[in-house]
Amino acid sequence: MEFARLTAAEAATLVKHGMNIGLSGFTPAGTAKAVTAEVAKIAAAEHAAGRPFQIGIFTGASTGMSTDGLLSEENAIRYRAPYTTNPLFRKHVNAGDIAYNDLHLSQMAQELRYGFMGKCDIAILECCEFTPDGKAYLTAAGGIAPTIARLADKIIIELNHFHSKAAMGLHDVYEPLDPPYRKAIPIEHASDRCGLPYVQVDVNKVVGIVEVDLPDEARSFTAPDPVTDKIGQNVADFLAADMKRGIIPSTFLPLQSGVGNIANAVLGALGRDTTIPAFEMYTEVLQDAVVKLIREGRVKFGSTCSLTVTNDCLKGIYEDMDFFKDKLVLRPSEISNNPEIIRRLGVISINTAIEVDLYGHVNSTQICGTKMMNGIGGSGDFTRNAYISIFTCPSVAKDGMISSIVPMVSHADHTEHDVNIVITEQGIADLRGKSPMERAKAIIENCAHPDYKNLLWDYLKISAKGHTCHNMAAALSFHDTFLHQGDMHLVDFSKFGK
Ligand code: COA
Repeated sequence: MEFARLTAAEAATLVKHGMNIGLSGFTPAGTAKAVTAEVAKIAAAEHAAGRPFQIGIFTGASTGMSTDGLLSEENAIRYRAPYTTNPLFRKHVNAGDIAYNDLHLSQMAQELRYGFMGKCDIAILECCEFTPDGKAYLTAAGGIAPTIARLADKIIIELNHFHSKAAMGLHDVYEPLDPPYRKAIPIEHASDRCGLPYVQVDVNKVVGIVEVDLPDEARSFTAPDPVTDKIGQNVADFLAADMKRGIIPSTFLPLQSGVGNIANAVLGALGRDTTIPAFEMYTEVLQDAVVKLIREGRVKFGSTCSLTVTNDCLKGIYEDMDFFKDKLVLRPSEISNNPEIIRRLGVISINTAIEVDLYGHVNSTQICGTKMMNGIGGSGDFTRNAYISIFTCPSVAKDGMISSIVPMVSHADHTEHDVNIVITEQGIADLRGKSPMERAKAIIENCAHPDYKNLLWDYLKISAKGHTCHNMAAALSFHDTFLHQGDMHLVDFSKFGK
């Protein structure tokens, strides 16, 4: 079949006010980016002419500046799901301009299929190759591409020549059936493949191909510092000790590691610690640190949804595809983050917390209970189903004015029932098998910053006795003190009765 060749600006005119668009990609990796930048220009012109223009956006995870950034600055996003990291988007979400649905990434594709979020009008898929019979070879991520391609009325292909055709062998595309017809997903090892290397699309839906040559819009992360290095070393020490105790098998178990500065430092430490054998990753994002570990033989295999790497690193993978082809696989997010597989493989999850409370509840998403940071991402998919679930964070934030260990989290993403281990630069709190009060002791003694330990003990002294001890009036007093006085150290419990 012959497809129309469109410019990005021509393709953008197909996107109308009120529509929902679905995008390939997961993080800026693999995200369609040429057409959305043109949609932002249309929105600007429509708004200047006094007409409304807003759309809904369905993605795998975060996107880059050409989508979340430009569209949110033009007030062109009505609704958006799921995860995002863009600071401009964050600004508009926290101003109440955008309806943002922050859900577990493994659930995004199925909730679209179940009809929870409305219709997908147009899917835009970034491909490194598209064949006349409708085989869409994705680029640096799996995301929700198979689902949006099937659900959308129309499909636009962004054929991005920045990506080598070497990416064609990276993907394993499998889309589960919906209940009551769903079958067991046949993945028993991180390296198993069970699908096709492409997304098969209905050629009759393809309205055009937009040819571009655009790099991915990956974020860069800051270099490890003494605090993140210490956290990384504590994670490595904990895993080595658990293996020595026989809790983790000597062959080790696949790891999931989140994205961000701390995650990078953790992986660096795991790579250096040769008491831990070479391991596999079953994860949703691979950053540069893991690619380096694969080259060094410290990581044997990486199963992921996206290559969230710098463009130089990505080019290096494409150039060395003979080396990487049996060491990497890219999957759709509902497979990379699938609870069934995570539990079967015994994945050890390592994610970053914004704050942790005395009993092990974790806030990954909201600052002081109201301001969205990024979103839950895949942290819930992995934590709830992990063999061992680990959360890391520095013990303090904002130059020590904030304690990351608080009496009660201001928003709960992961509950005490799911969180096994908390690690800060101060030490390791092993919460497994402990009662709430035993957990509180372990967290204060091992993870809290010395400046805040006594304040946390003081909080327990004014708390009502119970299975979980709390003082309901004072539970959020650390946050309230920070909001009003800019420093959690100034919390004053004398005004609270017991
Ligand atoms: N209160 C207020 N701000 C806090 C805070 C707290 N308790 N803890 C951290 N922060 C701020 C930091 O100061 C920093 O602010 P800045 O951007 O102004 O410098 C920001 O949050 C990011 O923290 P940082 O220490 O740089 O860590 P990070 O880059 O690793 O990000 C998360 C941490 C929690 C925001 C990030 O890991 C995330 O979005 N997690 C949720 C998604 C997830 O876990 N996905 C899992 C699989 S990828």
